[in-house]
Amino acid sequence: MRWVPAWGLALCLALHASVAHGGGSDLERGAALLAPFKRDLQAALRTGLVQGPAAAVEACRAQAPQIEASLAREGVRLGRTSHRLRNPANVAPDWVQPILEAYLADASKREPVGVAVGAGRAGYVEPILLQPLCATCHGESLAADVAAKVRELYPDDRAVGFRVGDLRGVFWAEFPASEAP
Ligand code: HEC
Repeated sequence: MRWVPAWGLALCLALHASVAHGGGSDLERGAALLAPFKRDLQAALRTGLVQGPAAAVEACRAQAPQIEASLAREGVRLGRTSHRLRNPANVAPDWVQPILEAYLADASKREPVGVAVGAGRAGYVEPILLQPLCATCHGESLAADVAAKVRELYPDDRAVGFRVGDLRGVFWAEFPASEAP
């Protein structure tokens, strides 16, 4: 298990505050909020892979929700979602769905976006493209032990069959909007 050290979070909040102070956009704030999430997921994946990919599937299952929960705080929500989910609990919030669909429909539009999400709330979404490493667990042909582990833990899995460069899903964050300019 890997906890985010308190100083790490404090540093991130400090950076976040300075960005906001400098007139940072909701786009910048969203990206800053997601940075530790991405970093910790990657670290968990790398640590898990040392034991082999089938064991890493278990590690991912245990740690991804914990990392997400450890970074959420008052007024901030964040997560990952996809049009082809592995874990049904990662279903997209309503406001994320149309952005995910737009990314899917047009590969040239796969840029991070910031949007207003109801009263005083801002949202940020960025695309996740499949990299070679990801194909071990989300690609077109999985090793037998990896496929078996995925079937066992995620009987409704739809997150296989991706090719390198495909849209795998999105990262999203929702947070209080910055003051009006
Ligand atoms: C060792 C196997 C493994 C590897 C390698 C892996 N993943 Fe996953 N991935 C998983 C598992 C297991 C889940 C479900 C985690 C959970 O229960 O929340 C998951 C979930 C996801 C999700 C959340 C949406 C969903 O379908 O539930 C995204 C997005 C994702 N992976 C993208 C990637 C990307 C991008 C890479 C490469 C950088 C990658 N994964 C590498 C096993 C893996």
